[in-house]
Amino acid sequence: SLPQQVRIVEVAPRDGLQNEAQSIDVATKVALVEQLVDAGLTYVEAGSFVNPRWVPQMAGSDEVFQTLQRRPAVTYAALTPNLKGFERALAAGANEVAVFGAASETFSQKNINCSISASLERFAPVLVAAAEHKLPVRGYISCVVGCPYEGAVSAAKVAEVARELVQMGCYEISLGDTIGVGTPAAVTAMLEAVAEQVPVEKLAVHMHDTYGQALVNIFAALQMGVKVVDSAVAGLGGCPYAKGASGNVASEDLVYMLNGLGIEHGVDLKRLIAAGDFISRALGRSNGSKAARAMGA
Ligand code: HMG
Ligand code: MG
Repeated sequence: SLPQQVRIVEVAPRDGLQNEAQSIDVATKVALVEQLVDAGLTYVEAGSFVNPRWVPQMAGSDEVFQTLQRRPAVTYAALTPNLKGFERALAAGANEVAVFGAASETFSQKNINCSISASLERFAPVLVAAAEHKLPVRGYISCVVGCPYEGAVSAAKVAEVARELVQMGCYEISLGDTIGVGTPAAVTAMLEAVAEQVPVEKLAVHMHDTYGQALVNIFAALQMGVKVVDSAVAGLGGCPYAKGASGNVASEDLVYMLNGLGIEHGVDLKRLIAAGDFISRALGRSNGSKAARAMGA
């Protein structure tokens, strides 16, 4: 059966913009976040505090967080790979942070420069520090069905990493199909394995749309009881360490589907489309959301 309500985690300002070659100024990033919140989104990943030499596009995240006009009851979150990132996020005023690991050893090395087990050791002090400051920590796992370097990834490995992240204190695990290779059968099998280790209430899905499978995979996850879905307005997104990965599922397309299913989410589709059109214009390209193209001006 399907949930009555879904929480959308909007990742465009982070996942969407981290991979852009052109420079995007702070004012544009801030305007994007504010327009997304105006559209009704209550959880926006607004930046990341990683090594700026690795991901130059996120170097201005401090300024983005400091410039934002905050709204009450909205979570402005950031990625933090280690304690240094956490301290920067705290100083910038993030209300929530996320650590990000992987279920593939090679991807872990390429993305965060360490093994899976070493990454968990780096996350531990982030969770301790976050608890001291009462900041919730989300845990991402990349390559939950496939890896750009290793191919198929075992669901048992995903489940093991998920269990460890929850044991460390992550309140939610976002399962990332980083390169969008999953189909409903693989995603369902993966979720079944993970749900044996972590209650499904703690799971979110993060589907890239490289092969056009993101929405159908999300539908499969909803049928299994997942109630939190990551998406990016205008279908932006990618990961600099996952070659060939294209955008995330477009938030507009997700909202259109949830509307059709009668699932509550709190987002105004017209205003969301306007936000997607705004950032698409700023990037000089057409909106990657099909719903936006069908309904937009
Ligand atoms: P490292 O080189 O192993 O780190 O990188 P280190 O601890 O050895 O430090 C090396 C240098 O980096 C030092 O500076 C540190 O101060 C600096 P130096 O002494 O050489 O001048 N440094 C930092 N600077 C600023 N902020 C920090 C920080 N940490 C170290 N937080 C590290 C390890 C994890 C930092 C690096 O590999 C990195 O930044 N990786 C980030 C990669 C990334 O952002 N990928 C994209 C996000 S993940 C994603 O997109 C997937 C997701 O969407 C889900 C999905 O789709 O699957 C979430
Ligand atoms: Mg991603």
